[in-house]
Amino acid sequence: MSIRLIENYVAPFVREAEVLQMQPTVTAVHDMLHAKTGPGKDFLGWIDLPRDYDKEEFVRIKAAAERIKKSCDVFIVIGIGGSYLGARAVVEFLKSPLYNNLKKDTPDIYFSGCNISASNMQELLSICEGRDVCINVISKSGTTTEPAVAFRIFREMLEKKYGAEGARERIFVTTDRARGTLKSFADQAGFETFVVPDDVGGRFSVLTAVGLLPIAVSGIDLDELMGGADAARVALADPDLTKNDCYKYAALRNILLRKGKTTEILVGYEPFMQMFSEWWKQLYGESEGKDGKGIFPASVIFSTDLHSLGQYVQDGMRNLFETVISIKDTGASQPVPFDPANIDGLNFLAGKDLTYVNGMAMQGTLFAHVDGGVPNIVLELGSRTAHALGYMIYFFEKACAISGYLLGVNPFDQPGVEAYKKNMFALLGKPGYETEKAALEARLAE
Ligand code: PA5
Repeated sequence: MSIRLIENYVAPFVREAEVLQMQPTVTAVHDMLHAKTGPGKDFLGWIDLPRDYDKEEFVRIKAAAERIKKSCDVFIVIGIGGSYLGARAVVEFLKSPLYNNLKKDTPDIYFSGCNISASNMQELLSICEGRDVCINVISKSGTTTEPAVAFRIFREMLEKKYGAEGARERIFVTTDRARGTLKSFADQAGFETFVVPDDVGGRFSVLTAVGLLPIAVSGIDLDELMGGADAARVALADPDLTKNDCYKYAALRNILLRKGKTTEILVGYEPFMQMFSEWWKQLYGESEGKDGKGIFPASVIFSTDLHSLGQYVQDGMRNLFETVISIKDTGASQPVPFDPANIDGLNFLAGKDLTYVNGMAMQGTLFAHVDGGVPNIVLELGSRTAHALGYMIYFFEKACAISGYLLGVNPFDQPGVEAYKKNMFALLGKPGYETEKAALEARLAE
């Protein structure tokens, strides 16, 4: 088992009986999910994806990754939301947040099209100067403004540098199988394309070509990652709350929300958890935050953030609970040296490993936060491996679906994301938005 839920630190706030009382409801939503009869039933392709993924495309992804590794120093991944967070989370979790600075035989990887910042774009373009570049533009809809603009800029850069023919070999497109501007463009221009399956939404797409191509370019073993997700698919299919920690996590979140815990903080003790937490926040925020409902997903990296947000967690408004990812074996080791002078008084730590010290920081914090009135759900991950991470990705995806159904929302749509787009298009003068533009200009003039 790659994830174990430890209940000791949530037990003072939620009785076991309260969890077990949820069994009939959990079984009902499990049945609805697996029978594909609930809201968003057309977007459940992620459930069996670790077994039923397109094997032919999988081989093509690995082959493209090998070509990219050979032909460039810099690989630019263009996408936003679910079209980049998963890949970035996996690369940083398994390689390093400092991946680009490591000694390695794989290209540097930068992410673009996830903001509209001119300074960020200028910096990326200057990083590309004098270096060989490939790009992967990823957009399921093929119409999202941020990646579309970034693609236009990088395409122009590649065409100037390599000519239209040369650029074509360096552009990889991941989009809908048949629809959308990006698909038509790619077909016309002759770019190699990969598919975002119709029945997999953006934030559930990390184990499709969306995540897999950039992940493979970084040198991570795709078979291990998919194998871990498939192990989770099998292990987490039992609705029995006493046997399924994924469902127990979903049930605990639901109970805590009903007790007024409206914010969940995902806690990591490793900087390589940072982007995984961003992926997790999107998954839960976009899936549950609708119809006036939902738990607000936040994240921290301890002990770093114990020196910034720790005060609030310990002592602020009591509407929080924490979900702590505890990694049993990070594979790293760094002892604290002995110093005969001991001027800093740290010899009590001499010979002890930083991993042990970090573990004690976690233990001390767990006790402190529980004493401060903050329930803590601890999820223990076996190791920092592609297999374990694949398992954890699937664990959170499934828990998110069950949680969303328990909450009474459709976890697979995101109607709220459209509101800003409509206003932005109107203000920018996009054809077709004339009425909205006039209304917004009147509001500006008020
Ligand atoms: O989860 C989602 O559906 C969204 O976050 C999308 O991934 C994001 O908006 C990007 O959309 P697209 O891939 O269509 O450009």
